[in-house]
Amino acid sequence: MVETSIQNICCIGAGYVGGPTMSVIAYNCPEILVNVVDINKHRIQAWNSSDLSKLPIYEPGLDQIIKKCRGKNLFFSSKVEESIANADIVFISVNTPTKQKGVGAGYASDLKWVESSAREIAKFSKNHTIVVEKSTLPVKTAETIKNILYSATNVIDESGNKDEAEKKTYSIISNPEFLAEGSAINDLQNPDRVLIGGEDQNAIKRISKIYEKWVDAKKIITTNLWSSELSKLVANAFLAQRISSINSISALCESTGADIKEVAKSIGTDTRIGIKFLDAGPGFGGSCFKKDILNLVYLSKYYGLNEVSDYWEQVVKINIWQQKRISKLIIKNLFGTLAGKRIAIFGFSFKANTNDTRESPSISISKDLLQEGAKLAFFDPQVEEGKILDEFLDNINKDDIEIASSAIEASKGADAVLILTEWKDFENLEWESIFFNMRKPAWIFDTRVILNKANLINIGFNVWSLGS
Ligand code: NAD
Ligand code: UGA
Repeated sequence: MVETSIQNICCIGAGYVGGPTMSVIAYNCPEILVNVVDINKHRIQAWNSSDLSKLPIYEPGLDQIIKKCRGKNLFFSSKVEESIANADIVFISVNTPTKQKGVGAGYASDLKWVESSAREIAKFSKNHTIVVEKSTLPVKTAETIKNILYSATNVIDESGNKDEAEKKTYSIISNPEFLAEGSAINDLQNPDRVLIGGEDQNAIKRISKIYEKWVDAKKIITTNLWSSELSKLVANAFLAQRISSINSISALCESTGADIKEVAKSIGTDTRIGIKFLDAGPGFGGSCFKKDILNLVYLSKYYGLNEVSDYWEQVVKINIWQQKRISKLIIKNLFGTLAGKRIAIFGFSFKANTNDTRESPSISISKDLLQEGAKLAFFDPQVEEGKILDEFLDNINKDDIEIASSAIEASKGADAVLILTEWKDFENLEWESIFFNMRKPAWIFDTRVILNKANLINIGFNVWSLGS
């Protein structure tokens, strides 16, 4: 088949990946029409909001790209049928959370949204369509997608007409996304690599040509389908493993008098180890690390590789342990009880520069503190009040939770401030005023190691800083 350029893209899923990824494609390829569709009408409405501060996702730089492309070659809508029918390529960028029930519950990915996307593509596509897995998926999902697409197209319709169906063909390609939230636009504009896996070399070339508009061709890696699908899971597993490794050592630092920042620097300057991703903290959060490792654990078990499966599961176990250990430590330092004590929680997003709270360590640690009778006052510069309250709907007395509009308001009368997200703003707060505001002894628990401990001690705080 002759290689022709792509003119029309549809992306199913306008979430944290679909939205920014398609915006960056539209920005770099003004000649391509990009339609992002979603079944969530509220989300689509927010993507189309004229007030750019109301976009559903907070990502530095995203608003400017939306301003430039939306309504020109970038459209957000619920027009699933029309957008698929007109597309040369359909990206599947839907959610793939861990299964909650049935076979593989707690480990395997729930692929029901991927399946429904494949069925929509089978129904509405015309002629030849390249179907791209953008979501993170278990190895061999491309086979399932292929099955759905081709079984559906072989069905004869009610009037016995098979002609239309027979014209449909598909190439299934894996093109996983490696962006990190909070730096998504920069990651998409300057990726370390773009991975494209598949069998149809023509389809791979056509996708590659899109990225080559702004990415150096040398950074585009092409592989077979299964290497591409597996590499995405493995990349996340390795990244998460580094965090669990450094977090396990943070505990050892606290016991021995070593300092985690010094240790991280000392090992990270070895170029074989590298300095990135060695920040000890309250454990990794976010929607993907835990789910993707559990997926890898499940996959390894499925293939009878129990030792491999146990090895990776330990990364998740250390993560849970780190969060529990922080909760216990706070209770111990506050004289063994939190009953009636006010704790100001600084940061609710799972990392800085995002409003995403999925799997945030703030959620699990806050729940532990509430269990002990604490009253919590939250302050986060980007997370909306409703999103915080939603996390505690079923398990607490409403009076135990307050959402503050500033750090100073949250700390009023508090016994402790607990830093859980590394927002830059927290480093430069007026700590003297905060100290003055609090009940004494006034504690700071810095789980992100972002504050100047000596300064705080000078002001009069009792300070616990992770890993020292
Ligand atoms: P998300 O929940 O933010 O967005 C997914 C969207 O898909 C939702 O808005 C949902 O309504 C929509 N959707 C589901 N089924 C649909 C259907 N049949 N038709 C139309 N819309 C449908 O999820 P996300 O964070 O964007 O993640 C998407 C995928 O990308 C996941 O597999 C994830 O593992 C992977 N990923 C995420 C990140 C990240 O930083 N969040 C990074 C890399 C990869
Ligand atoms: C991560 C990966 O970095 C992306 O490459 C991948 O595409 C994405 O998952 C995905 O598949 O969803 P993300 O979860 O958005 O991106 O953010 P990270 O920067 O990786 O942070 C994850 C968690 O680890 C956060 O809670 C963060 O605070 C924590 N972290 C990160 C640390 O505790 N220490 C570090 O040194 C780095």
